[in-house]
Amino acid sequence: MGTVSRLPLIAGNWKMNLDHLQAVALVQKLYWALKDAKHDEASVEVALFPPFTDLRTVQTLIDADKIPFALGAQDLSTHDSGAYTGEVSGAFLAKLEAQYVIIGHSERREYHNETDEVVRDKVHAALRHGITPVICVGETAEDLEEHGAAAVPVGQLEKALEGVAKDADIVVAYEPVWAIGSGQAATPDQAQDVCQKLRDVVASSLSEEAAAATRILYGGSVKSSNIAGFLREPDVDGALVGGASLQADEFAAIIRFQKHVGV
Ligand code: 13P
Repeated sequence: MGTVSRLPLIAGNWKMNLDHLQAVALVQKLYWALKDAKHDEASVEVALFPPFTDLRTVQTLIDADKIPFALGAQDLSTHDSGAYTGEVSGAFLAKLEAQYVIIGHSERREYHNETDEVVRDKVHAALRHGITPVICVGETAEDLEEHGAAAVPVGQLEKALEGVAKDADIVVAYEPVWAIGSGQAATPDQAQDVCQKLRDVVASSLSEEAAAATRILYGGSVKSSNIAGFLREPDVDGALVGGASLQADEFAAIIRFQKHVGV
């Protein structure tokens, strides 16, 4: 599958950081950092995942100023509408031109009891509304010790893809839980090994064509100093970046990985 070219995707998951005013400042700063560096917009797709309360503001800004960033949400409801206090429908996200939604982040699995079944139902909800799910999978430190790196993420992805159409547009993010926010990223070799197995899951659960087209991201302590190593791997097609996506210059350097490291 090494010959298939997939447009790299660099995604910034802001988590619960930045109100809508701070969001404007960061998006503008990031855009100007890339402009100053004469960044080639066509070389990599950039997607931002602000909190729900920032989405309308960021959408208006990127629309008005023609900023080439895609917009995504960090979660959505399994339901489309109704008496579900506090939930946000995929229909509303689609109206905001959200192209992506993160589903099954380990923080939601851990703090909000999201099971593999809930994750699967959210994947279906996103696809119903024409939004590309960014399906997060990853093993904890205990899983790693007991089962190795791939077993848990592979199982999570198999479940998440149950009943999904063969030609569905999806993104997969491999985020080892032990690497998130720890400063201790996986090695490129480790990421490649699991991402390759996740691609095999897309092939067997959906189709060979979907597997060839699907971007598989690595996430967990990604920085400008380690991004290039991951993107050199044949089955790693981008990154899901947490902390480093909150700093405009650092995130711009990650987006420009092709330049500063000669991938
Ligand atoms: P960090 O980049 O802060 O480790 O977070 C990764 C992550 O969870 C992105 O979704």
